[in-house]
Amino acid sequence: MAKTKSEYRCQECGGRFPKWSGQCGECGAWNSLSESLPSVPPPRNPRFSGYAGSARQSEVRNLADISPELQRGHPTGTGELDRVLGGGLVPGSVVLIGGDPGIGKSTLLLQSMAQLGEQLSNLYVSGEESPEQISLRAQRLDLPRHHLRLLAETNVERILQIAAHEQPRVMVIDSIQTVFTEQLQSAPGSVGQVRESAAQLVRFAKQSGTAIFLVGHVTKEGALAGPRVLEHMVDTVLYFEGEPGSPFRLIRTIKNRFGAVNELGVFAMTDRGLKEVSNPSAIFLSRHREQVSGSVVMVTREGSRPLLVEVQSLVDESPLANPRRVTLGLEQNRLSMLLAVLHRHGGIPMYGQDVYVNVVGGVRISETAADLPVVLAVLSSYRDQPLPERLVTFGEIGLAGEIRPVPNGQERLREAAKHGFKRAIVPAANLPPKHHEVEMEIHGIERLTEVLELI
Ligand code: TYD
Ligand code: MG
Repeated sequence: MAKTKSEYRCQECGGRFPKWSGQCGECGAWNSLSESLPSVPPPRNPRFSGYAGSARQSEVRNLADISPELQRGHPTGTGELDRVLGGGLVPGSVVLIGGDPGIGKSTLLLQSMAQLGEQLSNLYVSGEESPEQISLRAQRLDLPRHHLRLLAETNVERILQIAAHEQPRVMVIDSIQTVFTEQLQSAPGSVGQVRESAAQLVRFAKQSGTAIFLVGHVTKEGALAGPRVLEHMVDTVLYFEGEPGSPFRLIRTIKNRFGAVNELGVFAMTDRGLKEVSNPSAIFLSRHREQVSGSVVMVTREGSRPLLVEVQSLVDESPLANPRRVTLGLEQNRLSMLLAVLHRHGGIPMYGQDVYVNVVGGVRISETAADLPVVLAVLSSYRDQPLPERLVTFGEIGLAGEIRPVPNGQERLREAAKHGFKRAIVPAANLPPKHHEVEMEIHGIERLTEVLELI
């Protein structure tokens, strides 16, 4: 087969060049050229005819005439994985799993494939580990090994040829950075290679109905290595996260065409592989002997579950002209805004203080329900007064100093009551209709000034 001549395309402006250079000749951007296939499709290659058939005529149809036959998710046998996938594995879907090296991506997929193997034919393609290494791991984890099909290959054309023959219902590519297409000269892992290989795999998934898991490495900055287009091409993007030293692993849904985003799956890494944590609501709570100042427990909602997390703050006199505003697990601008509200509506000056806020356990909170907990933690540290025992809180704070309700208030309160919390400070609009429904002393507040009086 004659190699298709590749070209170099600018990632910024889309300019095309026959040769690589450090600067784009059209828009002047530096280091933005990457190898890609020419946009004119090459003459049809008989080798791809198995799956790349464009023989089917496109037609316009009425939405009502289309039956969504294959959009039902197939349970993977791992409840927490089903949760982040939006109910299960959808045939023909492509799922990208990103995460740091050693976080457990290969372990999770090996476990799931081995369990799924009894119901769905599968193919585990590894470009990172040898079949012997994988077999050893499966043996150590005591996984059923009869139904797991392994392939050590990195050439995407050969992978697809074999897959077209094997016809698996689920396929794992571990990892997308190790596979390459013959049509480009650049090294595996380069932007062009990742994009073109992924494009071929996505095309295969859509045409054959095979569900594909792509394992992706992340860069030092924490983003998926390779082009951002990878995230646009696939149906679902999952991120594997975990704190070094902690056994807990979180899988977060970043994008999902078949379910909700921001869903969270929780696992624990043990010496026998990844174990599901199906009731994770209190795993991030640290147990202090006695109440310390600057610490408060909030109920956040990650995906469809309430989660109890501790918010800590440290307020310290600043030697700097521009005092520090440092947040971990929260948005920094939000903290600056809350401090401004605290000054303007509460009369509490923070301009001479460094303020640090941290969410314990490496959890990231993106919802506004963290406003009230942050303000309480900051106040507690500023005055060096611990908050009452067994107190939980949540609520949004507006610029006018008003306390605004957050979704699912009662569910949050119930979860806190279940874990033995006795007091709550919440937005008045989140008060349960009948007070005896939850066995707690609940203060509903409407304005920031009421908080200051209360504690
Ligand atoms: P792995 O799945 O290879 O990570 P990734 O594919 O994301 O790079 O995970 C390897 C890590 O998990 C390694 O540091 C050892 C740890 N581990 C356990 O603690 N227990 C186990 O049973 C297994 C299989 C791995
Ligand atoms: Mg791996």
